[in-house]
Amino acid sequence: MKNQSWIVDRASTGTYDPRCFRLIEDPIPSAPDGKIVVQTLLMSLDPTNLNWLKLDPQLQAIPFGIGDPMIGVSIGVVLESRAPAHTVGDVVTGMWGWRRFDVVDPLLVRPAKAATEMSFEQQLAIFSHVGRAAAGGMTLIGEVKPTDAVLVSGAAGATGSLAAQIAKAQGCRVVGIAGGPDKCEFLLDELKLDGAIDYKQENIREAVHRHFPGGVDLFFDNVGGEGIDAVLTNMAIGCRIVLCGAMSQYDISDNSHLYGVQNLPLLIFRSARLQGFVADFGPRNHVVDNLLEDLTQRGQLVARTHVVDGFENVPDALALLLNGKNRGKLLAQVSFETIPG
Ligand SMILES: NC(=O)c1ccc[n+]([C@@H]2O[C@H](COP(=O)([O-])OP(=O)(O)OC[C@H]3O[C@@H](n4cnc5c(N)ncnc54)[C@H](OP(=O)(O)O)[C@@H]3O)[C@@H](O)[C@H]2O)c1
Repeated sequence: MKNQSWIVDRASTGTYDPRCFRLIEDPIPSAPDGKIVVQTLLMSLDPTNLNWLKLDPQLQAIPFGIGDPMIGVSIGVVLESRAPAHTVGDVVTGMWGWRRFDVVDPLLVRPAKAATEMSFEQQLAIFSHVGRAAAGGMTLIGEVKPTDAVLVSGAAGATGSLAAQIAKAQGCRVVGIAGGPDKCEFLLDELKLDGAIDYKQENIREAVHRHFPGGVDLFFDNVGGEGIDAVLTNMAIGCRIVLCGAMSQYDISDNSHLYGVQNLPLLIFRSARLQGFVADFGPRNHVVDNLLEDLTQRGQLVARTHVVDGFENVPDALALLLNGKNRGKLLAQVSFETIPG
């Protein structure tokens, strides 16, 4: 059996083109001293992969370039170990290359839960950077409180749907923004949100003003663009705008077309705050993980997953995030079975 990797063949410069990736084959690697070889079972496909593909060091979490494999968060099984903390057959989750088999630093992985306790799909949808972004963004950055009127954009997506449910679990009134009637139905019927705005049908600014007559207390933004101005012009005193993502700005052919936010000075008059973050809260990660564990145990977190079958389909699948055709956390099933070590 051979190894396969999706390497970056060229930087993404305009709208996303799956041909920026190239599939290469090489032998299955062996583990050098102190490292493990992991066989990838299930991969998380994320909007941030679109940003990393631009090969702009300001956008990359871990530097890599042309000829290197794309990096992502995955679940896999240890095939070979030359690290004391791991034995063959351990199931781990962490960040490594878009490869069927990769050499991984044990410091970059942690044990996954057993599949009998929670499916690997649910683990990547909740107990990952996605859940951490939703829970940490809402609580540590947004400082959500039960009296807040909360707006979430990208609310039918992987991160937004968790963020909205976390605010609901706090007792907040929560309105979500999503694209299309079926996604808005999902927000109202499945997530039990208090309102839904279909940004493809409605004028966002008018809709935000209508849903929040007393102003927005907390905006959890996954989309960027005009939604920020809609909130800036309708903030309650002390409003927090949490920048988790900017989906509307990731697939722009030319940086001069990026949306320019116009109403920032209004932050001053509302004693408001706008803050971005990445989903690594260092010593506070355990607080976030405990919240996710607690809400999951209580049945207060629903995570839809959208699983694409096959490693060979990964670059094409990434486009689903841009055209909104994913229904839940986008994942790729690479393998169901482990090969004998
Ligand atoms: N800060 C962090 O550490 C962190 C961690 C995880 C994720 N994120 C961010 O969270 C956001 C959501 O990521 P996700 O993985 O949960 O993906 P997702 O929401 O499951 O999927 C992406 C969704 O974005 C929406 N979208 C695409 N293009 C859009 C546009 N031009 N305008 C408005 N909406 C658009 C689509 O939904 P509609 O059909 O509703 O348009 C699509 O389904 C991303 O911006 C991502 O970068 C940040």
